Amino acid sequence: MDSKDPFRDSDYLQKNQYRDSSNLDARAALHRQFSTAVSDWQPWVFELLRLEPGMRVLECGCGPGWLWRQNVDLIPADCHITLTDLSPGMVAEAEVALAESGHRFDFQPANIQALEFADGTFDVVVANHMLYHVPDLAQGLAEVRRVLQPNGRLIASTNGDNHMKELALLVPENVQQTVASWRMRGQGNQLPFRLENGRSLLEPFFAQIDLHLYEDSLWVTEVEPLIAYAFSMIKPEMDVPETAVDYLRQAWAAKIAVDGGIHISKESGVFEAVK
Ligand SMILES: C[S@@+](CC[C@H](N)C(=O)[O-])C[C@H]1O[C@@H](n2cnc3c(N)ncnc32)[C@H](O)[C@@H]1O
Repeated sequence: MDSKDPFRDSDYLQKNQYRDSSNLDARAALHRQFSTAVSDWQPWVFELLRLEPGMRVLECGCGPGWLWRQNVDLIPADCHITLTDLSPGMVAEAEVALAESGHRFDFQPANIQALEFADGTFDVVVANHMLYHVPDLAQGLAEVRRVLQPNGRLIASTNGDNHMKELALLVPENVQQTVASWRMRGQGNQLPFRLENGRSLLEPFFAQIDLHLYEDSLWVTEVEPLIAYAFSMIKPEMDVPETAVDYLRQAWAAKIAVDGGIHISKESGVFEAVK
């Protein structure tokens, strides 16, 4: 993967893709609306944190703080939770949303590759769907290990190679040609940190690693949330022609009209790694 990969271009991620939560929101909305899972994602992840009263927690790449906003009633007493993200806009959104939570939160922009915390500060570090964005992942993981206390745990979610694989197949070939720069995960682009290689990337830094898989798929019955999802990953300068968007809209609407919906597989999970 070259260094211009937008997925690991910190400048693009901070100033554009994750300047605020709008792109992330479009993607989360599709999952929220059309998921077939028994348990919602954020409560499922929260349970894996196994928080106890008084624990010190760091989240890297917290986004708008959904993990805490959606589980606020489950946070044990006296926990001290520090939320960080490369994007100041994300941190600001998390801070506004959690201002009245009644729990002890700190907020600060921070790059996982250079954490300004003393060694052994935290019981748990969370890095959900963000390690694949880190240009120097070994440096990021060394930092996580450093700020964890002995036996401290990293909780890190990511996706697998087959995550939403049908989405790429749903883009007809003639549109893929029109939109030469169309580049979505699932079209043969592997995440740098994914379910398949996460264990081997974590192994140099952690003594014990478990993988928890999340059972889910989507049954999408409306076309607009799917369009919003797909275009949340396009860089503005890619300038996708309106005709291509219309073509996709019509093709996907026709599929929904015939089949009643579009099935999309998911492959997500959480690595739990003990220092
Ligand atoms: C896909 S979002 C996930 C947000 C949140 N963890 C969630 O699961 O909803 C990835 C987040 O990681 C942040 N990020 C990307 N690179 C980072 C880095 N090197 N250090 C800290 N945060 C980073 C982005 O700004 C973005 O908010």
